[in-house]
Amino acid sequence: MNDEANPLLEGLQLRRRPESCAVVIFGASGDLTKRKLFPALYALAYRKLLPEKFAIVGVARSPQTSAKFAAAMKKAVKEHARDPFRQDVWDALSRGMRYVGTDFADAEGEDRVGQVLEEIDAEYGTAGNRLYYLAVPPQAFAITVSEIGKRRHKEGWVRLIVEKPFGRDLTSALKLNELLHTWFREDEIFRIDHYLGKETVQNMLALRFANGIFEPIWNRQFIDHVQITVAESMGIEGRAGFYESAGVIRDIFQNHLLQLLALTAMEPPIDFTADSVRNEKVKVLKSMHTPGPKSVVRGQYGTGFVEGIEVPGYREEDGVAPGSLTETFIAAKLYVDNWRWADTPFYVRAGKRLGRRETTIAIQFQRAPHPPFEAIAGDGLRPNVLLIHVQPDEGVSLAIGAKVPGAGMTIRTVHMDFLYGGAFRTGLPEAYERLILDAMLGDATLFTREDEVEEQWKLVDAILGGWSRDRPNFPNYASGTWGPRSADDLIHRDARSWRRH
Ligand code: BG6
Repeated sequence: MNDEANPLLEGLQLRRRPESCAVVIFGASGDLTKRKLFPALYALAYRKLLPEKFAIVGVARSPQTSAKFAAAMKKAVKEHARDPFRQDVWDALSRGMRYVGTDFADAEGEDRVGQVLEEIDAEYGTAGNRLYYLAVPPQAFAITVSEIGKRRHKEGWVRLIVEKPFGRDLTSALKLNELLHTWFREDEIFRIDHYLGKETVQNMLALRFANGIFEPIWNRQFIDHVQITVAESMGIEGRAGFYESAGVIRDIFQNHLLQLLALTAMEPPIDFTADSVRNEKVKVLKSMHTPGPKSVVRGQYGTGFVEGIEVPGYREEDGVAPGSLTETFIAAKLYVDNWRWADTPFYVRAGKRLGRRETTIAIQFQRAPHPPFEAIAGDGLRPNVLLIHVQPDEGVSLAIGAKVPGAGMTIRTVHMDFLYGGAFRTGLPEAYERLILDAMLGDATLFTREDEVEEQWKLVDAILGGWSRDRPNFPNYASGTWGPRSADDLIHRDARSWRRH
């Protein structure tokens, strides 16, 4: 069935089109630009969601012509876009595309960027509106922000999409926020966490707040605990330079994982404006207390097998120090100390080189209080679980007990499933499509506000403080497994276990 014939897609096309603008990508020769940003811009052009008067400027250190840059991006779109390549769409997208090769610290180079933008305004009618995408290495961040800030245009709007990592601890994040605010207002700053752009993550809000049946039971009285898993089967993919100084706690836990937790635990916002939603998320982050040392475990992968293929351990990866103490796995028991969640544990875990790629949020309800079938139960009366499959196999599934047909009363767990692919019969948009479009529209709902980032770092700093006191015995899990034994101990101590895979 094609998109036009699918009535469930009605309403998806109703979005506002953004005002005329130029998108300026700093760090345009990087992997993110090729793999994510251009494919996303192409997908937006494909669906006619970009403004008519629009242009892209790539800025990076390597010297190259605009034509060469355009050719490289065309290749990237052919390789990575989710839609078939269409020359007419590409022509519309690349019309007016320019490239400026400059060191971010070079004021003259930045003047050239300014000049190019003025030419583009005159030629393409982009009206002085600029969306800057900062995909630059952390050391180039401050200088790039200042140079953009100094040349702030008089007419039109300016917005800044800021890629992660946003600092490496609370102190550096505070500094970055201060620097950004020297030049820009908070509503002009779009700190990206691409997990918030994922359809399934946004569906968490729909599930909770568009359905009357969940809200009354979404609390400590009915929920036994919550499990959040962000598992990846891949390793560090040649990113040792970044990963060695980040580890999973800065790469995934501080941002993606805590955002999933905040969306699961937040109170209903009064509306869906950026500040209402983010106010509620901040409250969750503020209510989280520091986990004790026994409630957090870390791990690092050794050699092992992933999907039948032998893979090296973390310390054998290119660019990783042979005695590296960087963690590639974290598991923690966290609490949200408020009226709704007091004493309800949130078990979370994230890691590289785990059994398979899987991001899930599992809400485990309390057991039935008085099961009359106990003696004859089949696989045991398991508690109900609402499982949100963020990826892959995007969807939601509710585990319930059902009677096995036949004589007697044997109960087995079955699943009521909603699968995106089946229900909407359309491919899901990539997170970056949604986020770039929202930034062009000036909608910051799915971006991280300054106080959110700061709360996230407070928790991370506290955990890191605890870790600095002892030396882990790494590696402590084999690639292709589900993390170190201590992660199992963490949850078994409470007579619970991680969800089966
Ligand atoms: C990025 C991390 O933010 O998210 C990567 O830096 C990680 O290490 C990636 O692999 C995972 O994103 P996704 O969308 O594939 O789950």
